[in-house]
Amino acid sequence: MSVLEIFKYPHPVLKKRCEEVDRIDGEIKKLIYDMTETMYEANGIGLAACQVGVPRRVIVVDVSPIDPEKELLAIINPEIISGEGEIDHEEGCLSVPDCLEKVKRKEKILIRGISPEGKTIEIPGEGILSIALQHEIDHINGVLILDRISRLKRELYRNKLKKEKRKEEKD
Ligand code: NI
Repeated sequence: MSVLEIFKYPHPVLKKRCEEVDRIDGEIKKLIYDMTETMYEANGIGLAACQVGVPRRVIVVDVSPIDPEKELLAIINPEIISGEGEIDHEEGCLSVPDCLEKVKRKEKILIRGISPEGKTIEIPGEGILSIALQHEIDHINGVLILDRISRLKRELYRNKLKKEKRKEEKD
């Protein structure tokens, strides 16, 4: 297993709709192991393949630091098949450093996807698990939290990045 580089906004790989996985081979399994290790190393609760530069529909989620009853989930080709209620919660993203913003999500969802063993699975999610799953599924559709906040907040974040970049160039 290896820890991979996490790509940051505005890298173009984060803006793409990722490709379906049609065969779970050794490469996909290794990707899942590496993504899991990368997520833990970064103290994240979720990671999508595009965040490590691989534009495929694969996500890993482990919300156990917040909800200890939950376990690691690795889902291939995940899709939301139903959702209800509304929740807003401050979200961060490993690809959008120093940005914590409230994002509106469905409170409860049902996900369908494929397990790393090739089985079709359905996963109900509520609370933090629901939020994390929606956040990661957004990633594989090329959507970031920056796309879900107001234009003003997005501009402020972009300006902050620009300033930091200029400062780095001077130093
Ligand atoms: Ni994220």
